[in-house]
Amino acid sequence: MAVDDPNHALLAIESTCDETAAAVILGPRPPSAGTPRVVSSVVASQVSLHERFGGVVPEIASRAHARQILPILDEALRRAEIRLDDLHAIAVATRPGLVGALVVGLTAAKCLAAALQIPLVTYDHLEGHLYACQLAYPDHAIYPCLGLVVSGGHTSFFRCESPLAAAFLGGTIDDAAGEAFDKVSALLGLGYPGGPLIERAAHAGNPRAFAFPRSFSGDERILLSFSGLKTAVLYALRGPNATMPMPTLSPAQLADLAASFQMAVVDAIVAKTRQALEQTGLDRLALGGGVAANTLLRDKLTALADHMRVELFIPPLALCTDNAALGAIAFPKLAAGQVSDLDCDVAAGLVRPDRKRS
Ligand code: KG4
Ligand code: ZN
Repeated sequence: MAVDDPNHALLAIESTCDETAAAVILGPRPPSAGTPRVVSSVVASQVSLHERFGGVVPEIASRAHARQILPILDEALRRAEIRLDDLHAIAVATRPGLVGALVVGLTAAKCLAAALQIPLVTYDHLEGHLYACQLAYPDHAIYPCLGLVVSGGHTSFFRCESPLAAAFLGGTIDDAAGEAFDKVSALLGLGYPGGPLIERAAHAGNPRAFAFPRSFSGDERILLSFSGLKTAVLYALRGPNATMPMPTLSPAQLADLAASFQMAVVDAIVAKTRQALEQTGLDRLALGGGVAANTLLRDKLTALADHMRVELFIPPLALCTDNAALGAIAFPKLAAGQVSDLDCDVAAGLVRPDRKRS
């Protein structure tokens, strides 16, 4: 596709975890006038490098980003039929994520911004995930909304007054929901990434076969925990004695464990979503992150939203998982004059409302 307004073309870069991604996005003119349009979006997944470890290995991720970043940037420009000289700004996610991985994306972004003498816009990956709902529903008002990011690295609720004003409400105190899927999948011998494999195994299972815990149920705080659930699955498999060998499961036992685990994760997330909606009074719910691919979660959140008369926004899968189209959030940032200096840095953790944003 040819770029029709090269003066408002943005190149976005994502390298927060285990996907190296770049996208060319065209913004409205002026930047506040509408929803940006994604012209190309390229993602290089590292799943094959990490699967034998059952999770993301940070050093391997950083090295793979360093290898892939330039070909991915070239490919995004090629598919958009745009030259570097036509770019108006560079966007990059600088938090939260793996530090070594983030540094690769930020370094590439700084080099391009400096060489081309165009603005550098840094953004929060989680705000980007939620802004993907605006990309997916360009004709809808998404904000103010309750934002929920459920991925391999995050399970976090935000009160989002606007794309750039996301106040952290709470989330998991240990493992993220996707991480729990991945770890339990490894326990069950299913493979990585665990979410789709557990979902498939759960089809034939009874979700009430095992009474797994729902963390913080009945607690008014917006908190979740999945590490105890993972241990509960382990104990259901071979008891609390760590010296006992893992049993060989029948297909029916495997299906029941997968279904009961999946139901426990989804129940806990849906219960906290209900609480967060009740506590904030917000009547829109925006979802992001790879776990949003889970059909049971989607169905239960849809039923909750119907029941509470809340508008639910779930982007298509390619926009839920990590990708650089999330960098479209740079357009509202540009409109607000939020441009970063070339000496800015990355941050591994969430930026909480009580901490300064760059
Ligand atoms: O957002 P994402 O692509 O990457 C980050 O973690 O940032 O999410 C990947 C996570 C993995 O933990 C994967 O197991 C989980 O999303 N996931 C799922 C499903 N598909 C992917 N979890 C549950 N059900 C699924 N269908
Ligand atoms: Zn993500």
